[in-house]
Amino acid sequence: MDLGNNMNFLVPIFYFIFGGLAVLYYKRKGAPKTPEDVVDNILKDAFKGTEKDSHKEAELVRALYQNENFIKDLSLTAKYKGKTVGYILFTKIKINEEELLALGPVGVMRRFQKKGVGKSLITQGQQLAKKKGFKGVFVAGDPNLFKKFGYKPASEFGIKAPFEIPDENFMGIELVPGAFDGISGTLEYPQEFLDFMKN
Ligand SMILES: CC(C)(COP(=O)(O)OP(=O)(O)OC[C@H]1O[C@@H](n2cnc3c(N)ncnc32)[C@H](O)[C@@H]1OP(=O)(O)O)[C@@H](O)C(=O)NCCC(=O)NCCS
Repeated sequence: MDLGNNMNFLVPIFYFIFGGLAVLYYKRKGAPKTPEDVVDNILKDAFKGTEKDSHKEAELVRALYQNENFIKDLSLTAKYKGKTVGYILFTKIKINEEELLALGPVGVMRRFQKKGVGKSLITQGQQLAKKKGFKGVFVAGDPNLFKKFGYKPASEFGIKAPFEIPDENFMGIELVPGAFDGISGTLEYPQEFLDFMKN
């Protein structure tokens, strides 16, 4: 009996079984996620069930990655018990040649809300922005949320949004006292934001 030939016959069977198992394992675990996918998932979950279309926020961030005003170091995630559950983005905006920041979106996965994650994203994000030399931040959002962090209606500073928004929903904060002194007019936002605000 020629044992060598019998073993050759088993080789394809071996590959078939182990190849199949590898494919099953890959499908079960899912394809590896990129950092962009992780951010997508957080925002889609955070905004689910809110008045905004959840996917729109994730699409805005995807579009902003390509924009010259995107700042990688101010695109921040937050972990809770080792799991990445929150995200915040600060993007460069301009007024009278002064570079400021737009906050948004900020989102925390629903299961992990009301645990202080959003607060640390906003406050630590602002501290980091200040360290990088930015003097102020503007946001389009819920005044009940943002006034907790010291935001005031932008109209109090004589500064306007370049899109239609109720006065109380467009707010600013000076990271450096007096930062908005002598500044007035309409902010310049990346086109992606303007398109987002139209929808
Ligand atoms: C808004 C959001 C980011 C807050 O994150 P969070 O981790 O739940 O918030 P925190 O636990 O850190 O709470 C921070 C403070 O904000 C308050 N707060 C949280 N969500 C709020 C809301 N929707 N409206 C008003 N206040 C809110 C908390 O009561 C807390 O106040 P306190 O310090 O006086 O107790 C989160 O709830 C979320 O992702 N919501 C859906 C997406 C969204 O609406 N994003 C903002 C759009 S601009």
